Amino acid sequence: MLILGLNMFHADASAAIVQDGEVLFAVAEERLNRAKHYGGFPAAAVRACLDFAGAKITDVDHVAVGQDTDANLAKKVQYALSNPAKILNFIRLRQRKQAMRDVRSLLSQALEVDAGQLRFQEHHLEHHLAHIASAYYCSPWENAAGFSYDGSGDFVSTMMARCQGSEIEILDRVYLPHSLGSFYTMICEFIGYKKYGDEGKVMGLAPYGKDTHCDQIDEVIKVKNGKFQLDLRYFKPLGSNQGMQVLPDGTVRLARHFSDHMVRLFGEPREVHAEITQRDMDLAYAMQVRFEEVFFHLLNELHQRVPVPDLAMAGGCALNSVANGKLFHRTPFQQTWIQPAAGDEGLAIGAALHTCHSVLQQPRRYVMNNAYLGPEFSETRIEGALRQAHLKFRKLGREPLLEAVAGQIAAGNVVGWFQGRMEWGPRALGNRSIVAHPGLPNMKDVLNARIKHREWFRPFAPSIMAEYQHEYFEYDHPSPYMLHVYKIRPEKRAQLCAVNHVDDTGRLQSVSHEENPLYYDLIKAFHRRTGIPVVLNTSFNENEPIVCTPEEAIDCFTRTRMDVLAIGPHLVLKSES
Ligand SMILES: [Fe+2]
Repeated sequence: MLILGLNMFHADASAAIVQDGEVLFAVAEERLNRAKHYGGFPAAAVRACLDFAGAKITDVDHVAVGQDTDANLAKKVQYALSNPAKILNFIRLRQRKQAMRDVRSLLSQALEVDAGQLRFQEHHLEHHLAHIASAYYCSPWENAAGFSYDGSGDFVSTMMARCQGSEIEILDRVYLPHSLGSFYTMICEFIGYKKYGDEGKVMGLAPYGKDTHCDQIDEVIKVKNGKFQLDLRYFKPLGSNQGMQVLPDGTVRLARHFSDHMVRLFGEPREVHAEITQRDMDLAYAMQVRFEEVFFHLLNELHQRVPVPDLAMAGGCALNSVANGKLFHRTPFQQTWIQPAAGDEGLAIGAALHTCHSVLQQPRRYVMNNAYLGPEFSETRIEGALRQAHLKFRKLGREPLLEAVAGQIAAGNVVGWFQGRMEWGPRALGNRSIVAHPGLPNMKDVLNARIKHREWFRPFAPSIMAEYQHEYFEYDHPSPYMLHVYKIRPEKRAQLCAVNHVDDTGRLQSVSHEENPLYYDLIKAFHRRTGIPVVLNTSFNENEPIVCTPEEAIDCFTRTRMDVLAIGPHLVLKSES
């Protein structure tokens, strides 16, 4: 049985294909059409899914969409009626969304197939239920608490659930305009980070701040009876799309979230390219502190209702790896399974798996053991691309390649590492990564000057051999998808100085041999040379979506000052090219 999952006409459009309960392939459209956070119809992603499965759209039995325009309709209508100025906008938005529901015509147009030949059944699933499904049905658990939170989706910002066997029972929702994601976005915008997806950057700024504005920021969001409420004086009215708009070309645009009340309290907002002041850092600090307090309040309430040790979690806010790292001592939960594509691209997998298990009652047999669900390219294609670019390369066996690359990293060189299937989700996890020495004091500046051009306050991440995590970090709970930030043990901080953030933490990727044997063995080869079981890992890109194809990797290698490219079995040295 073939099920195609979709996230469409929403930020991070994506597609995933599930065969007999197993996720075969999943990809976000941005990686294929190169438009960051693309929010249109994921035509290229659908084609890639079908190609991988060796199927045609006419073979697909079910199509599942992680959006249901009829969900929470009474709440939406009630909201529109209480804001007369928004009624027309609400009607227009609804008409547009209804048109988008015609999945049959959209797929027949995109794939140039007569709609009459399509035999699939269509399913629409509420946004946050799809988020929770994307975590729970990929976890190994039969019994867990489910939690999803983000800016908004189908008029909801937060959902709590009980997950048991094949079922996910919704226990509670927080409706718009109250949204922890919008709280975070509002302050990010105020301090000059206005683009969709900028929140992750500001998380790195927070530890530079001090406790000067915490009391004031506490007023913006209040907790009550296991839920929370925004004080709307701090926000501009955001409408039923909560200030997020997808333009006809698929670009995602954020409306201004903060109100003049914020300006009266804190002064003028920071302009995008202006210097970051202590006030901005202090606001980032207060925002992260309050976010965590509300998050833990919600999780403690959820644990009261579902008293189990395991938490399955997704939603854009679940990418807050700093909060995730503190979860084990601030709540009773002992284990987390967080969907690597916790943002909205993950809806495609959630919708497909929910249809499989809850709607069609197919047994669960799949566990997502790694995030390498994207496209892969043959040696022939890679070799062709290298020749096309007139690069001098050597083809090496597995061990010589690992030794050569480990030697280059140990010597302080920056390596583009392009191997196997592309990662699913926003993090590079050792298949589309730039790797470097984690213990050289100038490595962060070198990477920023030569390739990444990132803000000075953003840390780089460590990939660590899983069995050494305990020696280096204060928590043992694995972080396979770089979704937990832990303190680095004091005696190891010098060894990891290029990945040790200002608050002595690291957003680690724990790498096991089973998940990624080649990447694990690369770190092991580096460990043999240096005594450090860690490499610095940052995404293979330069201000663009992470590279997907060999051509994109080669292009990034040649236009930046990367020293080495290891692409499949081929090694390219910049000094020889
Ligand atoms: Fe979402």
